[in-house]
Amino acid sequence: MSHELQYLLETKRLVWLVAVVFALFMMFQYFEFPYGDVVSSLFSASKAQILETESYPPEASSQLPPILRNITRFDSSNYTKPAGILEKDNRTIYKENDVGSGNFESERNANLDEFTETGDDVSGEGVEEVEKAEVLAPEKAREPGGDFLTSNLSNSSSVQDFEEPAGSQKIPVPSDNKSSVNEVPPVKGRHEKPMGEVVTILEMHDMLVHNRASTRSMKPRWSSAVDQELLDAKLQIENAPAIDNDPTLYPSVYVNVSRFKRSYELMEKILKVYIYKEGEKPIFHQPQAVLKGIYASEGWFMKHMKASKHFVTKKPKQAHLFYIPFSSRMLEEKLYVPGSHNHKNLVQYLKNYLDLVVGRYNFWNRTGGSDHFLVACHDWAASETKKHMDTCIRALCNSDVKKEGFKLGKDVALPETFVRSAKDPLREFGGKPPSQRSTLAFFAGQMHGDFRPVLLQHWENKDPDMKIFGKLPKSKNNKNYVQYMKSSKYCICAKGYEVNSPRVVEAIFYECVPVIISDNFVPPFFEILNWESFAVFVQEKDIANLKNILVSISQKRYLVMQERVKQVQQHFLWHVKPVKYDIFHMILHSIWYNRVFRINPR
Ligand SMILES: *[C@@H]1O[C@H](CO)[C@@H](O)[C@H](O)[C@H]1NC(C)=O
Ligand SMILES: *[C@@H]1O[C@H](CO)[C@@H](O)[C@H](O)[C@H]1NC(C)=O
Ligand SMILES: *[C@@H]1O[C@H](CO)[C@@H](O)[C@H](O)[C@H]1NC(C)=O
Ligand SMILES: *[C@@H]1O[C@H](CO)[C@@H](O)[C@H](O)[C@H]1NC(C)=O
Ligand SMILES: *[C@@H]1O[C@H](CO)[C@@H](O)[C@H](O)[C@H]1NC(C)=O
Ligand SMILES: *[C@@H]1O[C@H](CO)[C@@H](O)[C@H](O)[C@H]1NC(C)=O
Ligand SMILES: *[C@@H]1O[C@H](CO)[C@@H](O)[C@H](O)[C@H]1NC(C)=O
Ligand SMILES: *[C@@H]1O[C@H](CO)[C@@H](O)[C@H](O)[C@H]1NC(C)=O
Repeated sequence: MSHELQYLLETKRLVWLVAVVFALFMMFQYFEFPYGDVVSSLFSASKAQILETESYPPEASSQLPPILRNITRFDSSNYTKPAGILEKDNRTIYKENDVGSGNFESERNANLDEFTETGDDVSGEGVEEVEKAEVLAPEKAREPGGDFLTSNLSNSSSVQDFEEPAGSQKIPVPSDNKSSVNEVPPVKGRHEKPMGEVVTILEMHDMLVHNRASTRSMKPRWSSAVDQELLDAKLQIENAPAIDNDPTLYPSVYVNVSRFKRSYELMEKILKVYIYKEGEKPIFHQPQAVLKGIYASEGWFMKHMKASKHFVTKKPKQAHLFYIPFSSRMLEEKLYVPGSHNHKNLVQYLKNYLDLVVGRYNFWNRTGGSDHFLVACHDWAASETKKHMDTCIRALCNSDVKKEGFKLGKDVALPETFVRSAKDPLREFGGKPPSQRSTLAFFAGQMHGDFRPVLLQHWENKDPDMKIFGKLPKSKNNKNYVQYMKSSKYCICAKGYEVNSPRVVEAIFYECVPVIISDNFVPPFFEILNWESFAVFVQEKDIANLKNILVSISQKRYLVMQERVKQVQQHFLWHVKPVKYDIFHMILHSIWYNRVFRINPR
């Protein structure tokens, strides 16, 4: 590029930038957005906004009133962590006393005995994230291409693939072993790629687009008729006709409703899934064991998948996808040695299984595993499958865009659902109409992880509009918790040890607008749903502004969002018998969609 041209371009960009800044400023004045240092935060955010306007799918953002579009973007560059957030320099946070706690036991029993009601042991969430392990990036080393947030998205070559570079360096395991909190899980052998502090939802959209364009699955070793079918499907989805009023699909909640509809129809029409028969119960093939509690998604999925006459084929040659039917919950339940702080044996168990089927059949070898998938909701599943199953499509509740090799465009964010009754997963469904939602914001839960104590420090007993609690006292069928969800405008979904929380789906279930405070969390069905149209994303650093952010959302806007929450509800419901567009079909669809868009035919 010549200097003149470059100069010209930069001048143009500058003019544009000034215009945008001015427009923003006027808008801020207009809405009286409650941020003190408006001008300086505008300047710090303006660069990112240029990139975002260029690459973000137009439909998604144009649907939002301007004031909300940028809420996730406030980036006071000077932010210092509030006291209480531990620097993430120690490798593992593992709360020994959570394992085998009373809660854990009751959850365990609840899961095993599907027809007993959980009763009331679960104030707030009950047992969410009990005995979870968190592996933290040990240092914020810079690698080329690693600084994603500040890198130049429009120049795709400046952004590395999110594939881990081969042979990235090993992290020395700390020799200090006096602390009881360390050493689970030990699989952390490589650098997590540092990509700046927080990946916002908009940046995730960019990453997804980028990954789709730049990474494909392995070319098959030999061709098969199914490859051509997938390729045809891809073309048809890309050329989807504009949708003609489907009364069940509300365009504003989707990234692109036409594509989604076409893709869904094609899935129904052609998708065949082969389920491996190998594997012993209860870790494999026993969904009944996990139909309740916070890991229920994997159990329900397996149950419906195995029972599906429509999608399952016994002829692997016809299969577009191969399902590895294990439960990460049962794996932990059966093999984890309490107190061992080590899940090597769990990883090994999965590897042995894989070796078995890889040696016995050539399905895996044809595509290097890229047409295989797993569905796993336990926190550890991400790290357990990271090494040997990283080529598969992994549907994971623990969908942290910066951890455990989660790859947007390949892996799928699995909704974490807290099923309270296996007989009636829709029990207590719904909530009060907006006019009767008297509480502004609600949260209750145990102090898992570093962030929740900070949330409480800021908001517990600080403001009558903010009902922010620790664990609620026991009540029958968790009545208090459910009542709050049904009668609050906003439900705070704060991260626990990991990014995911059953609250996101719970909020939707009870028709409460979710407020997701969990940096780097990839929300479920991210490829399909326009999350910002019905949920609020607040960065962890903005916790002190939580109330301001919420009250700055106009009543009109709130009503729109609440209506949309109801419009997406159908996608988050388990039914005893699956129905069209329900959560089972949506999970399968996201897996299908990612397979279709990564197809790389011979
Ligand atoms: C939000 O961002 C868009 C670009 O995505 C910009 O046009 C708009 O002015 C911004 N609004 C506010 C309130 O910052
Ligand atoms: C950043 O911190 C410095 C020093 O504390 C302060 O003067 C400045 O106003 C801050 N900038 C922003 C954008 O908060
Ligand atoms: C992490 O390290 C900090 C200081 O380095 C320490 O205060 C804290 O207790 C550690 N946390 C855990 C869980 O080990
Ligand atoms: C983006 O890349 C172009 C060309 O490499 C460069 O001139 C420009 O300064 C970059 N912009 C940013 C914000 O880094
Ligand atoms: C993108 O980056 C590459 C390598 O840094 C450079 O050669 C190329 O000119 C850049 N493209 C643009 C459009 O800036
Ligand atoms: C610390 O680890 C070393 C090597 O793994 C082991 O030999 C030693 O017994 C451990 N010390 C304690 C106190 O656990
Ligand atoms: C949705 O996808 C279709 C098919 O690729 C495309 O024609 C249409 O422009 C897209 N709509 C939007 C709003 O991006
Ligand atoms: C698949 O490949 C692996 C390693 O390359 C090999 O060990 C295995 O025997 C192959 N499977 C079949 C069925 O040929």
